[in-house]
Amino acid sequence: MAALNWSSDGKEMFDKIMAIVPEAMQEAVKPMLFGFIEKRAAGKTVTAEIVSAMVQNDLPEPQRSGIMQALGMKKPEEHAAAEPAASPPPFTPQWQGKSERMFEQMLQEVPEALRAVFRGKLMEILRQKCKGGAVIENYVTEIVQEIVPEPFKSKILKKFSEIGEVDISVIDSIIERFGTSQENLTYILHETQESIGYLPPEALRAISNKTGIFLSTVYNVATFYKAFRLEPPGEHHVKVCNGTACHLKDRDGIVREIEQMVTSASSKKVSHEKTLCLGCCDCAPAVMIDGEISTGVDARKKIKQLLA
Ligand code: FES
Repeated sequence: MAALNWSSDGKEMFDKIMAIVPEAMQEAVKPMLFGFIEKRAAGKTVTAEIVSAMVQNDLPEPQRSGIMQALGMKKPEEHAAAEPAASPPPFTPQWQGKSERMFEQMLQEVPEALRAVFRGKLMEILRQKCKGGAVIENYVTEIVQEIVPEPFKSKILKKFSEIGEVDISVIDSIIERFGTSQENLTYILHETQESIGYLPPEALRAISNKTGIFLSTVYNVATFYKAFRLEPPGEHHVKVCNGTACHLKDRDGIVREIEQMVTSASSKKVSHEKTLCLGCCDCAPAVMIDGEISTGVDARKKIKQLLA
């Protein structure tokens, strides 16, 4: 490839584009962009105009729209005062199988700044693929195979194969109820856990993608509060009261003994969590096993039987 002769504005624009591309992808993307630019410049100095024409004409979707939006570039049709085209009816995908979780996983690989644009463009591709029918897993896989360069394609396809069986479709209605503000994140996480039973990675990713809250923030909140579970609950679930009355009445340390029994058990049959007052201070130290309150000594006996 011949060395390119850059003007200062051309180089500045190119550097801005590279800053949007995730670091891990830059090595793969740079030669491709150089190839496009070299062809357009045809031996002349590479100006911002040439780089801009490359973005608008040579990049595939959704990368083109994502970069144009991030750089504040207008689409050619936005320059003209033409009649606005009728927008298509809203697309409400009928997700089938793991297709929604795969879609959210794919989006998670897109840089934060481009994610909203990519979501819209990828939804449009899905709409065309499913032609009014359900969104099956194959359509999402096809998109990855068609538009994602290696080595990211293989990485995403591998992550698809690791997605579990949890149904996260309930998250849409939860976010509809609470909105996308970060202030409501704990409510969203709480409701999601109530519906799914715990907070699997795909649920955290979907919450991040759909609200626009950074995944690191969602993860930090989910791990900060003890009330949130990142692991599926066991066949039996034990809530150990951490309230003041129970703490004061537990002179024999039964609560700690129960916690040790459950955490050191080799099977995952019984899961547990610490809670605030269970509303039954008369039974202190109170323990709830599968929704039923027991006092400490009784609870210890029951849990021993469950673990046997
Ligand atoms: S403090 Fe434990 S039930 Fe109230």
